[in-house]
Amino acid sequence: MSDLAAMIEAARAARANAYAPYSKFAVGACIRGGSGRLHSGCNVENAAFPQGLCAEAVAIGAMVAAGESRIIEVLLLADGEPLCTPCGGCRQRLGEFAGPDVPVHLCDLSGLRRTLSFGELLPFPFTAVGFGA
Ligand code: THU
Repeated sequence: MSDLAAMIEAARAARANAYAPYSKFAVGACIRGGSGRLHSGCNVENAAFPQGLCAEAVAIGAMVAAGESRIIEVLLLADGEPLCTPCGGCRQRLGEFAGPDVPVHLCDLSGLRRTLSFGELLPFPFTAVGFGA
């Protein structure tokens, strides 16, 4: 299986477990950490809507819990005609661990539709550099 196919399968499997009773919009994410390992996540909604988690946030949490702190590839998978791109908050979350050249693959149920660089999605990220952390 190609590297991309493995990421699609991981995102698809996570998406199948999405908890999205309110939006009914299931999302799967797969992140490749610096080690090459894959970490996946699905959206997890909540009756208190703002407490819901995006698939990317869950995948980032799994990556960090597995001991990684660098993202080298991202894949997002959802159904529907409009491309599902990372929301603004998740761009900021991804930017904590991903550089501008990191590929972000956008997929629907039939496969890859488009690949953008992280820098295209968030050209001027807010980072800790400005306050010396
Ligand atoms: N969602 C994600 O999981 N990732 C995104 O980047 C966009 C939105 C989820 C959040 C919510 O559960 C549902 O999609 C509808 O907004």
